[in-house]
Amino acid sequence: MSHVKSITDAFELTHDEVNYARFTSILRKRILMDLAQDMKTVYEKRVGPAYEKANGKTPNGREIRKAMLKEPIFQGWSVLRHTAQQMTWWSVQPAVERRLPEMIDIAKGVAAEHPFGGSLELDAGVVIPREVTGLDVHLMPGCFHTEYTDDDVAQGALYHHGTTVFSGGLPHRMDAKGDVARSIAHFLPLAYPDFKPKKILDLGCTAGANTLPYLDVFPDAEMHAIDVGAPVLRYAHARAEAEGKTVHFHQMNAETPTFEDNTFDLITSSFFFHEVSVASTKRIVSECYRMLKPGGLMLHMELPPNSEVDDYYEFYLDWDAYYNNEPHYQAFRDMDFPKAIASCGFPAQNYVQFRIPNWRSTSAADFEANAKGKSTDRRDHGNGAVWFTFGGWKD
Ligand SMILES: C[S@@+](CC[C@H](N)C(=O)[O-])C[C@H]1O[C@@H](n2cnc3c(N)ncnc32)[C@H](O)[C@@H]1O
Repeated sequence: MSHVKSITDAFELTHDEVNYARFTSILRKRILMDLAQDMKTVYEKRVGPAYEKANGKTPNGREIRKAMLKEPIFQGWSVLRHTAQQMTWWSVQPAVERRLPEMIDIAKGVAAEHPFGGSLELDAGVVIPREVTGLDVHLMPGCFHTEYTDDDVAQGALYHHGTTVFSGGLPHRMDAKGDVARSIAHFLPLAYPDFKPKKILDLGCTAGANTLPYLDVFPDAEMHAIDVGAPVLRYAHARAEAEGKTVHFHQMNAETPTFEDNTFDLITSSFFFHEVSVASTKRIVSECYRMLKPGGLMLHMELPPNSEVDDYYEFYLDWDAYYNNEPHYQAFRDMDFPKAIASCGFPAQNYVQFRIPNWRSTSAADFEANAKGKSTDRRDHGNGAVWFTFGGWKD
């Protein structure tokens, strides 16, 4: 561990704030596990059968939504979920504001010294897409890019600590601990023992949670990460250096990255594409193809496409598109992933798709068996055990 002052440790909740945050985590767990199960029971016992009787067929995801909109349990559940989502940010926001001067000082100190050789390259002229500026994604006040003061890191801190509350008590989701990257990084050497990435790029890195773990498995790799938000990048850089990790952070739009052709062995992302329009997704994937070296791999973690989930789960996942300011989410999951990837240059036969078990909560033997069998695990992502990933190899 390094001697660098930790931006993470600079954050501190008061006694009352701790309890607010804990209450929020528990509330979310109750909403997403118990109440969601009650809602599903209402659908299975009454709403679904009534639809089938009236229409002579089972409903698809959109039709389930139309039927459920009239149900008090969906209405109540939805209001509760929306409120709990806002509370995840509200529970940490006062502490972020209180500790902001200290966190900014730490980030500035780190950026001046780069004690572990990483770097932070900001570009005031970057084009921040409307997907970010047009609304507060996930209802996070200020989204990923807003700067309230010079050298601001508030949005990085808000995202990091808010997602900790968000996932608190749940076995998965928007993990602040980097479980996605840790799982992918451990999966790759087992699934592809000859693949040894020397240069890695993470797209839409936000506060760096799912950037840093790649260096635990590939310690000699040159790690790069991009995002359009300056405050999240300043925070991620300070966090990386405090953890003794050498990462090069760039403020860059993934649709127009300035890296040379054939630069990276591995290009990855987590929880990124569902927030991006389908048109932007195709531009970004084409850029991934361009930036990959021959023999390189693109592998992104996302929630699964609609073709991979049942109709009810499709309806369930759509909640975020309608109420959590993620308007592209539905169209993203409607996409034919193999076809979309092939339309961006990747040979169709090089498409890959895996369900990678969560490394920290899976036994080593099960994890290895899954990776070596290239994952035929069909478990529902919703149980938190599996990360859906998709991508392709460049010839
Ligand atoms: C949900 S967050 C990703 C979370 C992060 N990967 C993690 O695992 O913690 C989406 C991120 O993508 C960034 N973003 C959105 N559009 C982008 C674009 N065109 N280029 C680069 N970054 C973008 C946002 O600023 C935001 O930080």
